[in-house]
Amino acid sequence: MLTGNHKNIFNDARVPWSEYRYYDPKTVGLDFEGMIADIQAAPEGSFVLLHGCAHNPTGIDPTPEQWEKLADVIEEKKHMPFFDVAYQGFASGSLDEDASSVRLFVKRGLEVFVAQSYSKNLGLYAERIGAINVICSAPEVADRVKSQLKRLARPMYSNPPIHGAKIVANVVGDPTMFGEWKEEMEQMAGRIKNVRQKLYDSLTEKDQSGKDWSFILSQIGMFSFTGLNRPQSDNMTDKWHIYMTKDGRISLAGLNLAKCEYLADAIIDSFHNVN
Ligand SMILES: Cc1ncc(COP(=O)(O)O)c(C=O)c1O
Repeated sequence: MLTGNHKNIFNDARVPWSEYRYYDPKTVGLDFEGMIADIQAAPEGSFVLLHGCAHNPTGIDPTPEQWEKLADVIEEKKHMPFFDVAYQGFASGSLDEDASSVRLFVKRGLEVFVAQSYSKNLGLYAERIGAINVICSAPEVADRVKSQLKRLARPMYSNPPIHGAKIVANVVGDPTMFGEWKEEMEQMAGRIKNVRQKLYDSLTEKDQSGKDWSFILSQIGMFSFTGLNRPQSDNMTDKWHIYMTKDGRISLAGLNLAKCEYLADAIIDSFHNVN
């Protein structure tokens, strides 16, 4: 499942793409069988775009066992895994835990592309700080990849901006600041988890229909898919003045504990009273 931005990037670069199944609206969970079947059916040697952690927009990540199975299929089909990692540390609160999907592929000796963004986890949106890491099978391959990347970068943006990169280097290069950053990130991830729990508790307490809202707790990261469709999302905005994307996604980072009950009332009303 690609984000709108991925599609625009691939279209602009004239890279042909197609989507694998990911989100299952029936369970508001992962359509793992569909995902595996589509990746298996893709032409051998395809690039497979994966979200390393905290999938945007759904908030639904594969389990460790499902990641293993994905790596099996990708290896078997000689596909190239391309990880988009924009929320490392924001999902679980731990940089290492959130890197486990990528590390699982690298441990198998697979070649891997990893596009990392530090916009969120370092709060540096406007500095455009990120990195592309390519794990290659041999030094000669790395040389070839490097020359291709330089060939792409020079006519595209020429040189990367340096100010944000120096801020990052300052933080990660100093053990005290690195420790503070990790602590603060854990706090932020913990805050989001608390809000997620409170939203689930409010929904379960208020909704008398017996609907299972546990998918909210299975999701991870800044976003949650509510399972609301377009007319229901419109009702959230028109009647309750809750502004969200029309695919039913809400950002938990923009929510506080005091507003969870109001949000739960709005979701319950939209879900049960609008088709
Ligand atoms: C999965 C994913 N990748 C990349 C980005 C964008 O990162 P950047 O701010 O570095 O462009 C986002 C969100 O904006 C995202 O959700």
